[in-house]
Amino acid sequence: MTNKITILAGDGIGPEVTEWGLKVLQYIGERFGCDFVFDQGLIGHCAIEATGDPLPTETLVKCQSSKAVLLGAVGHPSYDYDPSKTIRPEQGLLRIRKALGLYTNIRPIKIFDELIGASSLKPEILKGADILFFRELTGGIYFGERGISPDQLRAYDTMEYNRFEIERITERAFEAAMKRNKKLHSVDKANVLDTSRLWRDVVQEMSKKYPEVEVIHMYVDNAAMQLIRDPRQFDVVLTANMFGDILTDEASQISGSLGMLPSASVGKEVGLFEPIHGSAPDITGQNIANPLATILSSALLLDIAFDMKDEADCIIKAVDDVLKDGFRTRDIADSTTPKSMIIGTDEIGTEVMQALEVRLNQAVVI
Ligand code: IPM
Ligand code: MG
Repeated sequence: MTNKITILAGDGIGPEVTEWGLKVLQYIGERFGCDFVFDQGLIGHCAIEATGDPLPTETLVKCQSSKAVLLGAVGHPSYDYDPSKTIRPEQGLLRIRKALGLYTNIRPIKIFDELIGASSLKPEILKGADILFFRELTGGIYFGERGISPDQLRAYDTMEYNRFEIERITERAFEAAMKRNKKLHSVDKANVLDTSRLWRDVVQEMSKKYPEVEVIHMYVDNAAMQLIRDPRQFDVVLTANMFGDILTDEASQISGSLGMLPSASVGKEVGLFEPIHGSAPDITGQNIANPLATILSSALLLDIAFDMKDEADCIIKAVDDVLKDGFRTRDIADSTTPKSMIIGTDEIGTEVMQALEVRLNQAVVI
């Protein structure tokens, strides 16, 4: 088994936040003698600039020989208003997901009590919300046949799902539901889409294997509304690629900020871990980005790829300690946060490292 972890910092704030994710991993590695070997590679806009390719073969090869990949973000504003560009940073991300067979994207949505005030939702609605999203990641409309006519008058994207693609992620979602509150919402648009009707059929079929799990089928438009009306009704949510993309950005408000959410993409041997936020070009290089989602992604990486649950919990608790001490980056501050407690990327990263050290020194058995 390899202990290699490849860091793909990517674009925008990616390098600023992965620096802290890496520091946490290095620290845990040294402390517990894990012999992690770190490597790095290019992806996204920076890779296009350097090689013309958003996912150079060299990067992919490094990732394929790793146990886990920690990714920052990809994207660059120069593409936003130029749809004619055919080579785009995001293709790097989509291709690596496909190449590594990362068909399950797991996005845990949980509110840290201290951040209840930072959300735009009412505290009484949020308190206790704890949702685990399973977003299908290598199929659906993201990967279907697409095209644009030469006269630019017509364009199309197609959504396609095979039974086996739905089955393999559904199984993972049921397994997770069994370990949690035995409740699974499968979100689709079966009143309109054939792919959703197939999705529903597969989930129904597989639910027979898990009679203890309560299964609720919900249309995606309703789910978007229910998520902010009463997020506590959800436990495990299973959904297709694009629905999951949209719903998890919405659900980030349940955790206070997009800057707090980690994610894990798994499937075959290699796991990829990344914050769900984007490259945030508007705040790049200013030392104000929130590195906590990446630090929490490092925790997920240890938990899922290396089975180091205690160490992962320790990182999550260290993040909590820093929040309890009152430190905030700009995105998670609210009107009650004193100005002196609103600190930068490097400062909050340093606070987490210190809190982690304190926790590990206190821990009797870990
Ligand atoms: C995400 C992102 C990506 C996606 C983009 C950058 C291609 O929004 O990981 O949620 O849509 O999957
Ligand atoms: Mg997204």
